[in-house]
Amino acid sequence: MENYENKVVIITGACGGIGEAIAEKFAAAGATLALCDLRQGELLQTVEKCQQAGATVYSDAIDVADEVLVRRFCGTVAETFGTIDCLINTVGIVDCPGDVEELSLSMWDKTVSVNLTSAFLMAKYSVPYIKRQGGAILNIASVSGLANQKEAMVYSVTKAGLLSLTRSEAIDLAQYGIRANAVSPGSVEAPLLAAAVDQAAQLFNRTKDEQWEVWRSQYPTQRFTSPQEIAELALFLCSERATNITGANFVIDGGLTALLPER
Ligand SMILES: NC(=O)c1ccc[n+]([C@@H]2O[C@H](COP(=O)([O-])OP(=O)(O)OC[C@H]3O[C@@H](n4cnc5c(N)ncnc54)[C@H](O)[C@@H]3O)[C@@H](O)[C@H]2O)c1
Repeated sequence: MENYENKVVIITGACGGIGEAIAEKFAAAGATLALCDLRQGELLQTVEKCQQAGATVYSDAIDVADEVLVRRFCGTVAETFGTIDCLINTVGIVDCPGDVEELSLSMWDKTVSVNLTSAFLMAKYSVPYIKRQGGAILNIASVSGLANQKEAMVYSVTKAGLLSLTRSEAIDLAQYGIRANAVSPGSVEAPLLAAAVDQAAQLFNRTKDEQWEVWRSQYPTQRFTSPQEIAELALFLCSERATNITGANFVIDGGLTALLPER
């Protein structure tokens, strides 16, 4: 069992479906947590759950695409707890449909800054502290970074970028004992999935129930992944049981990307 006592772990998107599951898992493993998210009310609820699990928690409702706020957040975390050991980026938005002709420049810019630039900024301002003793970075990407869906261009572009960022972080930061990995989920039973299902149902003129069934039936395991399964993997990858794992991407998708279309 991983032990995170005396480890300071930053989690972005902390009150999202996946972020909260990761926060609760790390709280139960003894971590000291620094949580951020745009949604202040929901963030405070996540903080309370983690405190009930015994964690000491610092939190701030910030936009992780804002350089000034990210720099201030990382500095305050290091000042409050003495250092930073792990950074877990889970922030992501999916409501950005459109092909190359339809997508507006403003939607492109917003999605790139929230899904990709934020992970760069969080690393830029936490690495100076993590490198003091070594640690780990984990970026939550997506199977959409490996293969693309119709009219969902910019989401895939940002997730592929996140995988590339992860590899560069692994190469450049190994000298400081910092590892960087990515986890690429298929569909996860979390609020973002419901939004993506609504979007796809509209696009393909299906009911929401039909759309759920179309997606679920494409998985060899016939089910989506739970946020807790992502959290288990995160707990292992950031731990001292994984000290020679870096620059890797872990797909957790019920076999979806292993499957070719039916003959
Ligand atoms: N849910 C899925 O099916 C699925 C599948 C593959 C990959 N992912 C990826 O996993 C990650 C987490 O997904 P989720 O299902 O938990 O989504 P979610 O929408 O439940 O959580 C995302 C969180 O990020 C926060 N956020 C959004 N923009 C922000 C900003 N600018 N600054 C600070 N916080 C911001 C939101 O408030 C939210 O709490 C995302 O990166 C997503 O792309 C999700």
